[in-house]
Amino acid sequence: MELKGKRVRIAPLKLEDVYAMRNWGTHENPLLFDYNLPPLTDEELKNWHYYKTSERNRKYFSIFDEDHRLIGYLGIKSIRKIFKDSVLGIVFDPNNVNKGYGTEAITTFLDYYFNEMNMRKMYLDVAKFNKRALRCYKKSGFKIINLYLDDFFDQNIDVNNSYFVKEKSSFIIKKGRIYNYIYRMKIDKATYLKERDKIDTTKSKNQTKPNIE
Ligand SMILES: CC(C)(COP(=O)(O)OP(=O)(O)OC[C@H]1O[C@@H](n2cnc3c(N)ncnc32)[C@H](O)[C@@H]1OP(=O)(O)O)[C@@H](O)C(=O)NCCC(=O)NCCS
Repeated sequence: MELKGKRVRIAPLKLEDVYAMRNWGTHENPLLFDYNLPPLTDEELKNWHYYKTSERNRKYFSIFDEDHRLIGYLGIKSIRKIFKDSVLGIVFDPNNVNKGYGTEAITTFLDYYFNEMNMRKMYLDVAKFNKRALRCYKKSGFKIINLYLDDFFDQNIDVNNSYFVKEKSSFIIKKGRIYNYIYRMKIDKATYLKERDKIDTTKSKNQTKPNIE
């Protein structure tokens, strides 16, 4: 299986791709530290790869750019064949965020997901403070369906840190415990097709415009 977007290529996650993630950059925003790859040994990375790829209810894919460099990975978890749904996870090399690759990878994958895998719905969970991810998902056609609180992954974060202060409204501190708001988002096949058609219509309008004028 291999998927091609305008710039990205998506293929099943291989062990060599996991090793290549060692060359990725790091997020300086402490709210995103959970997405930095910790320094792991070959053995630990092998186990991580095995964990991601061995279970039947999840599938993981590598994302490459036009120069064949590994720039990210995505996974669908909690796949329920009966309900034809799953939960998306996606992580890019911090050096390659904000370049439109995320949106392109998601829309390319959704095409395969709905049309080839014949799935009906996709869900995802995103922290309210993660504005870039939120924007990317909205652009890709996902809609917010729920809001809930969860334990923040770093209970020792410096709450005076500027990144934290800026996103203060995304957090609640109660009895010394830090919680953060999470949005659950969803896209179904009909919405996806509608969004895709919208993009296609705009394109064809632009293409025919010079002929009309
Ligand atoms: C989330 C992620 C996959 C998105 O992919 P990406 O390639 O960075 O996203 P894109 O470049 O396609 O789109 C980002 C959008 O967010 C916007 N954006 C960036 N920072 C923003 C901010 N602070 N506030 C609001 N919008 C922001 C960009 O301008 C762009 O929107 P636009 O095209 O309308 O201008 C990627 O950033 C990533 O891996 N982040 C770290 C890990 C992570 O957060 N994973 C998701 C967990 S749910």
